[in-house]
Amino acid sequence: WARATQTVFGEGPPGARLMLVGEQPGDREDLAGEPFVGPAGAILERALKEAGLDRSRVYVTNVVKHFKWRASGKRRLHERPNAEEIRACLPWFEAELRVLRPSVVVLMGATAAQSALGRAVRIGDEPGLVVTSPIAPHVIVTLHPSAVLRSPDPASREARFARLVADLGLATSHARRSL
Ligand code: URA
Repeated sequence: WARATQTVFGEGPPGARLMLVGEQPGDREDLAGEPFVGPAGAILERALKEAGLDRSRVYVTNVVKHFKWRASGKRRLHERPNAEEIRACLPWFEAELRVLRPSVVVLMGATAAQSALGRAVRIGDEPGLVVTSPIAPHVIVTLHPSAVLRSPDPASREARFARLVADLGLATSHARRSL
């Protein structure tokens, strides 16, 4: 928390059935105080739209609530949270789950999956990775929107984006059915 501008809490309507979970706020989120408003957020928003979902209807959060970074010239580069930092933030995430009680949780990326599930999960390449967990009736693990940005070439960028859209589509259909 020490180098962050502010705590970035989750955001979304109180009645949201669908919760999307990332790792930690990035540079833009740290300044804005809102989750997923930077480049990864733009990918997420586009994927949600393609999956037929409006962002304003979902609850978006991160397992870690502060931006951890190191300086590189004038830039602030993202640093992965360590196990202790993830553990320190877990009560906040658990409280969000208790208050919202979402029917579907989408864990985006390895950090979100590992901290929410308490075990390592291989995200793999195939869409539709549904896991059993007490955190919600339906839990889907997908890749992090930043993984789309970090794709090594246009073909994998397209494949990763398609995976994200497919998993969000799956989450949407579970959420609709549970209404
Ligand atoms: N990456 C995340 O995991 N969360 C954000 O809010 C932004 C980028």
